[in-house]
Amino acid sequence: MSATGKPLIVVSGATSKQGRSVAASLLESGRFRVRALTRNAGSSEARNLATMGAEIVTVPLEPDHRREFAQAFRSADGAFLMTPPVAPPSADELTLGRQLADAAVEAGVGHIVFSALENVQERSSGTKYAPHFTDKALIAEHIRALPVAHTFVMLSFFYTNALEYYAPRIDGDRVLMPFYLPEHFRAPFVDPLTATGPAVLEVFSDPNAHLGASLPVVGDVISPAEMVDAFSRVTGLKAEYRSAHSREGLLTYFPELGENPLVVDEILGMAEYAVEFGYYRDDRDMQWSRSVDPGALNWEEFLRATEWRGDRVSFGASGQYS
Ligand SMILES: NC(=O)c1ccc[n+]([C@@H]2O[C@H](COP(=O)([O-])OP(=O)(O)OC[C@H]3O[C@@H](n4cnc5c(N)ncnc54)[C@H](OP(=O)(O)O)[C@@H]3O)[C@@H](O)[C@H]2O)c1
Repeated sequence: MSATGKPLIVVSGATSKQGRSVAASLLESGRFRVRALTRNAGSSEARNLATMGAEIVTVPLEPDHRREFAQAFRSADGAFLMTPPVAPPSADELTLGRQLADAAVEAGVGHIVFSALENVQERSSGTKYAPHFTDKALIAEHIRALPVAHTFVMLSFFYTNALEYYAPRIDGDRVLMPFYLPEHFRAPFVDPLTATGPAVLEVFSDPNAHLGASLPVVGDVISPAEMVDAFSRVTGLKAEYRSAHSREGLLTYFPELGENPLVVDEILGMAEYAVEFGYYRDDRDMQWSRSVDPGALNWEEFLRATEWRGDRVSFGASGQYS
């Protein structure tokens, strides 16, 4: 800890939706200093973080930058680690996650909070393909074996997916909303921009209470049909569900995904996994995040807060599916 008495937390992917939320919550608490890692200190998101009081450090968030990673974690008390979206067949996410954790430990970081997901490979006995879940679980397994205090947060499906990656199609006066989930299947969803920070702030505020835990971060448990209804109610627009829960449906609404067939396999694998096995393991504490952040937005509150009316929104990040 520094002479200021405020612990220093390194936030990787600090301009991401999750990272921005974490950096903002830590800084706004007035109890932490933040070192924000980004590839581009000149982006508007990075400049916003600097204005809020974050120290900005430029680091390539990709494998094999051991020296830069070690520098980035020097004299930090804690680290929030996230991995950016990586399209299959790249194995970079797994490599990057392990290397970030190793670098944090080598630099003497006291507590790692990693944004993890469930092990789909294991839970589905190898029948579902969702490497961006399984690789995060394998990174978490690696972190468990390191000599460092650790906690995992596990974000639900993002509300923002519908705005950023799977935007509706406008057809006359109707808003057609394609979902990769079946119309009446209820799944956990969350706003990464406002819910990640309060959860991670809670962990760093009381680290001993959360040692080794894997904590879901949930804003709502809701079906696409209910999301479409809420959208109509809030916006006054006519809206209809469209199925992207099949290869044909997905490629009808998002033909660009066909450029990488493994991406299509992964989206369908992830959706089938959620339907058949549940997004989270049965023993996860689904109430934890709401208990520490009672104001977490449900879908309807998210719609009212963002005033979203069905247009495609860029959050200024990578612009990839995830
Ligand atoms: N979408 C979902 O429903 C969902 C649910 C749970 C978990 N997740 C996971 O959440 C992660 C994404 O989080 P997010 O949506 O908060 O991130 P995001 O908004 O897409 O931002 C990713 C950030 O990573 C940095 N970055 C560094 N190297 C990158 C690269 N090669 N490609 C893209 N970005 C790179 C970028 O910041 P700079 O340019 O400033 O370096 C960017 O701001 C993924 O691992 C995904 O699997 C997603």
